[in-house]
Amino acid sequence: MLFPDFDTGNVLMLTGSVEILWDGHPELEGFIGADRGWKFNLTKGMWLKNLLPFSAKFDAYSPNTKMTGTWLEADKNKQAKKLKHTWQPLKVTKIIKESNVITSFYLEGHNNTTLLPFKAGQHLTVQIPSKSRSNSNSNNSNSKPVIRTYTVSSSPHELFYRLSIKKELNGEVSNYFHNNVKVGDVILAKYPQGQFFIDSTNTKPAVLIGGGIGITPMISMAKHIANEGLRTRYTRPLHIFHSAKNKQQRAFYNELKTLADTSGGAIDYYSLLSQPELDEKQGGGSNLKDESFDLKGRINADVFRYYSPLDDYEFFLCGPDAFMQHVYNELLLLGVQDKNIFAEAFGPSIIKPQVLNTNEAPNKSKEISTEEADNTVIKFSKSGFEQRWNKGDNTILNVAESHGLEPEFGCRNGSCGSCAVKINAGAVVYRNNVSYPVETGQALICCAVPAKGVEILDLEL
Ligand code: FES
Repeated sequence: MLFPDFDTGNVLMLTGSVEILWDGHPELEGFIGADRGWKFNLTKGMWLKNLLPFSAKFDAYSPNTKMTGTWLEADKNKQAKKLKHTWQPLKVTKIIKESNVITSFYLEGHNNTTLLPFKAGQHLTVQIPSKSRSNSNSNNSNSKPVIRTYTVSSSPHELFYRLSIKKELNGEVSNYFHNNVKVGDVILAKYPQGQFFIDSTNTKPAVLIGGGIGITPMISMAKHIANEGLRTRYTRPLHIFHSAKNKQQRAFYNELKTLADTSGGAIDYYSLLSQPELDEKQGGGSNLKDESFDLKGRINADVFRYYSPLDDYEFFLCGPDAFMQHVYNELLLLGVQDKNIFAEAFGPSIIKPQVLNTNEAPNKSKEISTEEADNTVIKFSKSGFEQRWNKGDNTILNVAESHGLEPEFGCRNGSCGSCAVKINAGAVVYRNNVSYPVETGQALICCAVPAKGVEILDLEL
């Protein structure tokens, strides 16, 4: 190995033997993005004075150099991983208004909390203090914290988590963020997780389709792909379709347009407005200040046909349920296979696949089971009451809430894991695809109902 000192012209030469540490080796754990490592055993070292025929001044590190972090950072990552499922304090360091309905909150570690690496597209689970709930909605000062999940809109190479949150009319948590959260506040969050993410090394082109606030995972993915392009010299081809109601509600236009314009042709970006205001002109101006859009109307099969030569691509969908179901149906019309469609939903329901009971469900999650119990008894053992349950009744979370219990929950669609409850006896089945890797012996009660053949379902609730 040669270590040139460009200031002095000296070179340090080391000789020895090398052992390759392949991906998955315990010593690589904690080094973000490391594919492999090598261990050098020194046999001889030598300083070669004034060897370089030139000198140079340091400018900046290559993006590759610092990508995997230092030994100290790797150790911190290893420690933080053990706390992956616990609440961690994160400090709000910046707040940026992205549109008239979407605001971004930048979060960094608070009091030595280490930010764990994540995959572009994953989400963060946050809780807001119980007092906000009791102040706004009830007089019960013992109310439990409210938990929600939000996609991280920053890229894994950035040194912060950025949550971009849409202010929803009746959204308790989104209103809390928009109205109460200030720079310097500390938020409790669990580290990012989720099964909706993109692989930057895949050679298939990817089509990212975001509707409204559903653009948040797409911008994380696009930034990640662009950064990996710089780092590895391979940029996965991307086509980004961004649907918004109008320019006032649209977020990240400049960021996405700049990514596309500087990608050397690997990334293209199309903005669609379903209800543009009267003064919004359609066109393709290159001046970023002249915010324009490419098409008026909704995304449909014709738009895909016109803008992208559809082939063996992967499709990533995110947005409101109706938007995703519509886009999913349009993609099937074009002959896209289920196995190439990946989806992330906001809210309790997700895409209804046109083919059920298949391993090719849209988000590659567990097979839908239809084997619900005909009738059974649900026993909430900690709370001490029982409830008869008949086929077609609500999910266990709804049943518990209707009895005044306040179990934790976040996404209500099986992707965050917040509602996991221990099963003391019996078994459950899921009414929709759950993407969270629930542990054996636990149930995600937001989507679960008693399984066929179970007489008593006993839950630690
Ligand atoms: S609430 Fe998120 S998995 Fe149930």
